[in-house]
Amino acid sequence: MITHILFMYLLRSTLAVIVPWLDNDPFTESQVQTENLGFGRPPVIPPDEITDETRSLPHEGFIPDYVIDSCPLVHLYSEEVYYPADISDFVKHFNIRVHNDSIVKDAPVRISDLNAKFAGSHESGESVLSQDTYLSSVDDFAKDPRWLLGHKPDYSTGHIKDAPAVLIVVDKGNGWVDAYWFYFYSFNLGAFIMGYGPWGNHVGDWEHSLVRFYEGEPQYLWMSAHGGGGCYKYDAIEKKTRLSYSGTEPTSKIEERPLIFSARGTHANYASVGQHAHDVPFFFSALSDFTDRGPLWDPSLNYLAYTYNGTAATPATERESEIGSEWLYYLGHWGDRQLDRKDSRQKWCPVQWRYIDGPRGPLAKNLERTGLCQRPKWWNFWGGCPARRSIKRGQGIDAEHNDLVGDNCGILLYRIRPKWLRAVARLVMWRGVTCLVMDYFTG
Ligand SMILES: *[C@@H]1O[C@H](CO)[C@@H](O)[C@H](O)[C@H]1NC(C)=O
Ligand SMILES: *[C@@H]1O[C@H](CO)[C@@H](O)[C@H](O)[C@H]1NC(C)=O
Repeated sequence: MITHILFMYLLRSTLAVIVPWLDNDPFTESQVQTENLGFGRPPVIPPDEITDETRSLPHEGFIPDYVIDSCPLVHLYSEEVYYPADISDFVKHFNIRVHNDSIVKDAPVRISDLNAKFAGSHESGESVLSQDTYLSSVDDFAKDPRWLLGHKPDYSTGHIKDAPAVLIVVDKGNGWVDAYWFYFYSFNLGAFIMGYGPWGNHVGDWEHSLVRFYEGEPQYLWMSAHGGGGCYKYDAIEKKTRLSYSGTEPTSKIEERPLIFSARGTHANYASVGQHAHDVPFFFSALSDFTDRGPLWDPSLNYLAYTYNGTAATPATERESEIGSEWLYYLGHWGDRQLDRKDSRQKWCPVQWRYIDGPRGPLAKNLERTGLCQRPKWWNFWGGCPARRSIKRGQGIDAEHNDLVGDNCGILLYRIRPKWLRAVARLVMWRGVTCLVMDYFTG
């Protein structure tokens, strides 16, 4: 076993040396695409390179029915406290501030106040870029004001009347279409580490999933989790048979909808129930997310829809025209800044602060991507994003299959004895390159 570990170390160091070379030539985007998209299919095109010949959709603002028919259903956690929220209601409780804390827009902020930049509040007359701003809460968010808690789905339909999801459809050319479903929660309650926590809380929480279609058929599903995410072939994803709705009225049509699971507090998305180690390399699995079959949310019953072409977002219906699309160009933080270390609410543990920065909005999530992942993981030197052919099962008491099937690294590690050596091995390769390579071959 020692030799094995030494070998892995050597392999890793060697790879580190040749990374610059790999980055340059053969293993670039095109490699990623062939790997993702299979043979005999034309390439996915970034939005700014689409021409009239390669366009998949007839015009800006057009949302195909198949996108709605394959909208993921989201199982929230059974004991969730922070439910989906309405961005228009959320922003009312905030000021917009520059990083130096000066206010560019007083509360209550309306969603139509959000924009790419703001008129400077001072004599200078210089405008302030939204990137340099954040939404700062008027209330003390640590006291759980009502607006922070969001809204539960209706038990029978999954409709959340007071919290629209946000759908952004991006034409990727040659018959490819990406449907990004954004899920907004007012608060992210971070993870616990061995019973202590939470760590990594933030105000405002944007999560999303991507369903990628080829000629109207869903092919892949990617879902966000802590800056990384899970990528699956659409066929591998669990489905739920459900009546199709017209507006909020059920019709007689039956459809199969993909299922995703939103983790307790963090709202990271997974394809199965149970305990999931954070998708961060070299972290101990003590930092975990939990999913189960709690309240079912059907975002297709209430959403704001846009198309995006790499430069402009176009509202799909009257409903979005009213609130406009400017708010999408707001690139500041959708929540308070990391609390100062002197603030009594702030705490620190060796890996994380208790309260961190709020996240940036939908257009900061690489919707131009040709690969399926929002961004490659830092240890993933070839930038690939292979789609899994089988679901990665959660572990622990909540897992419906209490096994390690699909968690290849887990199985390998369990063979290592004594225990301390296993701990070392886990530190070296847990969720690192080795896992990815094994995943790739065992699917
Ligand atoms: C804060 O930054 C803004 C924009 O850069 C600037 O207009 C303003 O004068 C600054 N305020 C203070 C108090 O420094
Ligand atoms: C993107 O959409 C906007 C709004 O519909 C349009 O004005 C613009 O020309 C489009 N840009 C490209 C590159 O297609």
